[in-house]
Amino acid sequence: MRRTLIAGNWKMNGSFAANRSLLSEIKAGLPVSLQCDVLVCPPAPYFAQCAEMLGGTAVSWGAQDVSVHVHGAYTGEISASMLQDCACKYAIVGHSERRAYHAETNELVAHKAQQLLKHGVLPIVCVGETLEQRESGQTNAVVAAQLNAVLDVLDSLDGLVIAYEPVWAIGTGKTATPEMAQEVHHFLRQQVAVRDAGVAEKVQILYGGSMKPENAKELLAMPDIDGGLIGGAALKSQDFLVIIAAS
Ligand code: G3H
Repeated sequence: MRRTLIAGNWKMNGSFAANRSLLSEIKAGLPVSLQCDVLVCPPAPYFAQCAEMLGGTAVSWGAQDVSVHVHGAYTGEISASMLQDCACKYAIVGHSERRAYHAETNELVAHKAQQLLKHGVLPIVCVGETLEQRESGQTNAVVAAQLNAVLDVLDSLDGLVIAYEPVWAIGTGKTATPEMAQEVHHFLRQQVAVRDAGVAEKVQILYGGSMKPENAKELLAMPDIDGGLIGGAALKSQDFLVIIAAS
């Protein structure tokens, strides 16, 4: 049985004051017998605040990206060992916003995931098709290429987390139906099974793209949907808590 992971990607939002309220409300509202893993991914300047406020709780914190480099003259970059130092349990890589605005390729994303695993940080590898790709029947080919680039470079797939985020559903209010999402999640699990059937059974595959209180239960009920990577709704404690309770 796979454990559900509910992850909030705060993107470039937050402030010390706003985070303090949000994290306090989340902590106070968590179910007593929490049934899932909970993660928040703030911008890097707030890792220390998360450590201060979430240390010793059931809520983990993680990063939204990582450098592919180990160390050195890479101004502005943050390495996997630095994320490890900041006690980040996970880091998102290959988010479609980074692929689109920072020209990240499948190969770069794969090497970022590799760096993370080398440093004990669990990568959440995002894959997903654009509307144009979906409408022209390329969904499986696109997500397979994105995922297989990662599977090709990792020595071990233990610790890998996958997030299926159809680009057309991100921040748009449009959600993939549970059946549409399930179909892609099942396909992704089959891709992992080609490499390692044991890992395929246990790898968590999250859905992301306008997940909200109104649709979380239905999405999370699908057999191959093991959690959510949540943007907008993760910035509202009530919404995030409803999604946690739906898992
Ligand atoms: O990483 C999160 C996704 O981009 C989903 O964002 O929930 O605001 O659509 P959203």
